[in-house]
Amino acid sequence: MARTALVTGGSRGIGAAISKKLKAEGYNVAATYAGNDEAAAAFGEETGIKTYKWNAADYDESKAGIAKVEDEIGPIDVVVANAGITRDAPFHRMTPEQWREVIDTNLTGVFNTVHPVWPGMRERKFGRVIVISSINGQKGQFAQVNYAATKAGDLGIVKSLAQEGARAGITANAVCPGYIATEMVMAVPEKVRESIIAQIPAGRLGEPEEIARCVAFLASDDAGFINGSTISANGGQFFV
Ligand SMILES: NC(=O)c1ccc[n+]([C@@H]2O[C@H](COP(=O)([O-])OP(=O)(O)OC[C@H]3O[C@@H](n4cnc5c(N)ncnc54)[C@H](OP(=O)(O)O)[C@@H]3O)[C@@H](O)[C@H]2O)c1
Repeated sequence: MARTALVTGGSRGIGAAISKKLKAEGYNVAATYAGNDEAAAAFGEETGIKTYKWNAADYDESKAGIAKVEDEIGPIDVVVANAGITRDAPFHRMTPEQWREVIDTNLTGVFNTVHPVWPGMRERKFGRVIVISSINGQKGQFAQVNYAATKAGDLGIVKSLAQEGARAGITANAVCPGYIATEMVMAVPEKVRESIIAQIPAGRLGEPEEIARCVAFLASDDAGFINGSTISANGGQFFV
């Protein structure tokens, strides 16, 4: 029987590529988004993938949304915590609001997304938890104290969940993308983008589909012995 996958932030950017790839691999896919109804509607129309709107930063909304997905599509076997935001500022100018928004979405959002599906995965003795972290969680980044903290935190989450879930047939892994050609990156000034590309040995930005293929592998039965790991997909920009 086809497995069910939930992708948060699955209607745009990297998440959209992940949703499409998992659908192509035969999963029943649910994709969530936060507020961009237009993009979600266009994505749903293009792909036939069902979209759900809730704020990953809110536990109660996430729990209710996940219950709805499980009711309508089926028990979630694969959860991809991908929703993420940036609120960049040098530390001396970073506001508590910028700190909180990023922590709430990128870090607490992972808790909110995985915690409600975890008991069912334990019961069914199968689960795949995949968290989309970032190269900047591995190496830090100017003006991203908030973002880097959350993305480093993601790695602590999967390493801990890996230990808790292993005997229940659940794996938890992270993917650390380098700079990928999504709206998030294309929104930075062209000069900054050029300087970013100059730091990538591959000489180009990554494609969302290159991250999606990492996720599809981690979700597969072939990856059953990979647990607590990080796949770095960054064109050679940083080695751990
Ligand atoms: N792009 C990169 O180069 C890069 C590099 C490393 C890591 N990453 C990570 O990869 C992930 C995806 O990035 P992206 O570039 O694809 O982002 P994106 O194009 O900005 O898309 C973000 C997606 O997340 C959703 N989202 C944002 N906040 C949410 C919330 N509170 N609740 C639910 N959904 C929310 C958005 O929904 P709406 O459409 O409603 O806004 C959208 O679907 C992020 O975790 C990011 O940190 C990206």
